[in-house]
Amino acid sequence: MASDNGRKIELRIKRQLGPNEKSYWEDYEIPYQPGMNVISALMEIRKNPVTKSGQKVTPPSWDSGCLEEVCGACSMVINGVARQSCTALIDELEQPIVLEPFSKFPVVRDLVIDRSRMFESLKRVQAWVPIDGTYALGPGEKIDPDTQQEMYKFSRCMTCGCCLEVCPQFNSSSAFIGASNVGQAYLFNQNPTGKNLKTERLDVMMGTGGVVDCGNAQNCVRACPKEIPLTDAIAAIGGQVTVHGIKRLLKL
Ligand code: SF4
Ligand code: SF4
Ligand code: FES
Repeated sequence: MASDNGRKIELRIKRQLGPNEKSYWEDYEIPYQPGMNVISALMEIRKNPVTKSGQKVTPPSWDSGCLEEVCGACSMVINGVARQSCTALIDELEQPIVLEPFSKFPVVRDLVIDRSRMFESLKRVQAWVPIDGTYALGPGEKIDPDTQQEMYKFSRCMTCGCCLEVCPQFNSSSAFIGASNVGQAYLFNQNPTGKNLKTERLDVMMGTGGVVDCGNAQNCVRACPKEIPLTDAIAAIGGQVTVHGIKRLLKL
């Protein structure tokens, strides 16, 4: 692709060469090409990893998968906003474009973070439909269209972590499970077969790090790129936890 009349793109990237290394900033200037996004800009830097001041460096690392805002792997903080780099178009960003890794997850290298905590939380809330078996299970129970619509909203979660990055309650000194996982508990509690694990999910939600730790700041719902109504799930699961707690108390 030809560059556009010598136009340049300026980027500022937070570097960190390993999990226990100190972070530092590097500035880059690369040729502008129409239609670029942050990932293609990073690929351009990788071809010739030289800083704006002419210093040859190791190429910055980043994560990506689908390149169409489905896998969530490329999420980072771009100009102060938690979002996906594959859909962050250069033409729509103020320069220098500042790229940082998420601050709420351990840095593996540069813009690559370790999102294990999210996946461990999905395991904690058993965010699945329990249908293990090697035999034919027959058709599942029917789900009415309204419930399907409601479940669909939450099924779009791509575990990107944006809702956790912006949540004041989610940090290294708290056990809070985070809005996305409350959303997944809400989703699977509605599935006719997934409901079989509702009690276990509500036990988790009632305990340390569960929905009770949500401070109701509502940053999560504003940050979600899939526009998932996370605060609806937080309210619904909060209600289910109250009923569940009373039943536990009365040993029902
Ligand atoms: S409502 Fe606030 S405290 Fe609760 S999960 Fe969302 S951002 Fe975090
Ligand atoms: S709920 Fe939204 S912001 Fe949170 S992990 Fe899922 S897709 Fe990302
Ligand atoms: S690469 Fe999958 S969401 Fe960006």
